[in-house]
Amino acid sequence: MGRAGIHKISRLLVLANRLPVHRVGRERDARWVPSAGGLVTALQPVLQRVRGCWIGWTGIGGDTPRAFRHDGVIIRPVAVSEQEVEDYYHGMANQTLWPLYHDATRTPEFRRDWWRSYLGVNQRFARAAANLARRGDVAWVHDYHLQMVPRLLRRSQPNLKIGFFLHTPFPPEELFEWLPWRSQILTGLLGADVVGFQTVGSARNFSRLAREYTSAEGTDQELAFEGRTIYVNAFPISIDTEWWEERAQRPDTLRKVQEIRKRIGPKRKILLAVDRLDYTKGIDFRLQAFEELLMSKKASSRDCVLVQIAAPSRESEKDYSQLRAKIERTVGRINGQFSAPGRVAVHYFRKNLTREDLAAYYLAADVMLVTPLRDGMNLVAKEYVATRTDNTGVLVLSQFAGAARELTRALIVNPRDIDQMTKSILQAMRMPYEEAAARMSILRMRVRRHDVYLWAEHFLQALTS
Ligand code: ADP
Ligand code: G6P
Repeated sequence: MGRAGIHKISRLLVLANRLPVHRVGRERDARWVPSAGGLVTALQPVLQRVRGCWIGWTGIGGDTPRAFRHDGVIIRPVAVSEQEVEDYYHGMANQTLWPLYHDATRTPEFRRDWWRSYLGVNQRFARAAANLARRGDVAWVHDYHLQMVPRLLRRSQPNLKIGFFLHTPFPPEELFEWLPWRSQILTGLLGADVVGFQTVGSARNFSRLAREYTSAEGTDQELAFEGRTIYVNAFPISIDTEWWEERAQRPDTLRKVQEIRKRIGPKRKILLAVDRLDYTKGIDFRLQAFEELLMSKKASSRDCVLVQIAAPSRESEKDYSQLRAKIERTVGRINGQFSAPGRVAVHYFRKNLTREDLAAYYLAADVMLVTPLRDGMNLVAKEYVATRTDNTGVLVLSQFAGAARELTRALIVNPRDIDQMTKSILQAMRMPYEEAAARMSILRMRVRRHDVYLWAEHFLQALTS
């Protein structure tokens, strides 16, 4: 990793809603284990290389343990009351901003009490960072939960370097305009020195909206606002490529791969999907495409099997419990019709796996299906590619994932076009080795050249130069 951006930093203060660890077990048996999701997965390796402090929420209402050190990183929990969990997290973050920023895949709700709570929690995060900040520190604020923090923190620490990175898409004008608090949110983000997005499209949406709804002036990449200059750009996030490559070649991983293949049926093509159980991931459309493929008789459960690994997520929210019920009904229906003794058509696991086990599944899969309806980046697509060190395997990728901008040699699909999905799955299953290898080697080049360290380096360089 080049260090031009990082060596200038005495300490990095990361602010993100979720801490990188959460507590399991009670009282004396309690221990801290890594949290799931793209944001945490991406930032954790970065914090191993620079002195850091992570300011965030434990995931439990009313729970505020004292600051502690975990894996070399200082963890500074921020209190979020049970009422705030309802209003700020389940409400404003998950039922207003999340769906709105993902093409309004579900109808966003707009509630003033949620907004007030959002402001309150953002103020608390800003205060926690202001109290910790020392000369030379850099604050890096993450994601849609904390969009007001850059401005609030700037007020009390006018000279602090503040960066903001959005892990989700930033929506186009016609959606963002729905927000009753659109100007406040834009002004909140303009408190940063660098505002980063996953794609050029998102960065452009932001700059245009800032010029329209605030007094900011300038270009898509540089805005002048209240006497400061704000740099806006795309910084596509990535993965710890070396870790996945190394892991994929270890004898214990290869043993696990053999075990998976033996259990699932060594002669069947394994189609794999790995997602948080979220409506933006298109799991229901993907199952429909697989079902139609089996119905068409162009493939059967003798030739192929779908393994869907779904990490439980936001389960107390209605949209999520409804989606889960729908997925489980569909899996039941497909298996009822197409499975035979010893030959299940869809293996569905609703659980979190370790990264080590995930690597084995990636390596066992002939075809990887990453077909979200909208996704900021999608790290799963990059992780799959990184493990395919022998250039085998085919990636089917939604055009609506940020990753599709970089992984252009995947089989690109529109996840709502079931006919095209079915055709592409079949094409992936039947792709001759030479073509698959040619595609995969180009995909691998991209993730090898552009890993998560380079992502952090680029962002922090922009922030500290
Ligand atoms: P999102 O940020 O929306 O969850 P990403 O694909 O960008 O989506 O990131 C998801 C991260 O969570 C990846 O690093 C992936 O390995 C991990 N992950 C996804 N599903 C599981 C699972 N079932 N078990 C363990 N880790 C998972
Ligand atoms: C996405 C978001 C993250 C979030 C993660 C898990 O990756 O960009 O900010 O932490 O999903 O969601 P949760 O609501 O459980 O934190």
